Amino acid sequence: MAGAVIQLNLYGQWQRAVLGACAAIFGPVLSAGAADPSLVAFRVEGGQIRAPLTSEAGDPARGKTAVLSRDGGNCFLCHSVPDAGETPLGNIGPPLAGVGKRLTAAQLRLRLVDSTRINRNSVMPAYYRTKGMRNVAPAYLGKPLLTAQQVEDVVAYLLTLRN
Ligand code: HEC
Repeated sequence: MAGAVIQLNLYGQWQRAVLGACAAIFGPVLSAGAADPSLVAFRVEGGQIRAPLTSEAGDPARGKTAVLSRDGGNCFLCHSVPDAGETPLGNIGPPLAGVGKRLTAAQLRLRLVDSTRINRNSVMPAYYRTKGMRNVAPAYLGKPLLTAQQVEDVVAYLLTLRN
């Protein structure tokens, strides 16, 4: 009897180890969005998300508004942004000037969706993730910081920053 229980436990551990290994290997490849059915599913491959999150193309003008808005991206708190007018700009992250030349749309998309997939210790917020967050105010629980369309708008704007 005791033997059977121990065997079951061992099997359970083994099974968990295998599942854990699978998650570690395939987790980064298979869609992270699928973990949350309220989000558009996306697939992370090689540091990028190739497919746009929406069928409507991103709008650079709306993207710029989101980047410079307190309700939207708040990106300017950490990044300098070209043509920001009077907005005071932060320097925690690299300047966004020229980022459209340095990175592709697919790389920028992942950077916005979940920067921790690029740099595990990134302080940049994951703008399109709702799971695994800490200290989220109740009003924001389950809601990504940007909508899928805003992510596409911001990608479109960043691609215009080529100098
Ligand atoms: C709390 C600070 C913070 C905020 C807010 C923030 N970022 Fe970042 N961002 C960073 C840091 C720091 C890095 C450097 C890489 C890292 O640590 O992950 C970075 C890296 C980047 C990069 C890569 C730049 C490069 O040259 O490789 C892009 C693009 C970017 N951020 C865009 C944005 C946009 C767009 C927003 C708003 C939607 C935003 N960031 C909001 C801190 C921030």
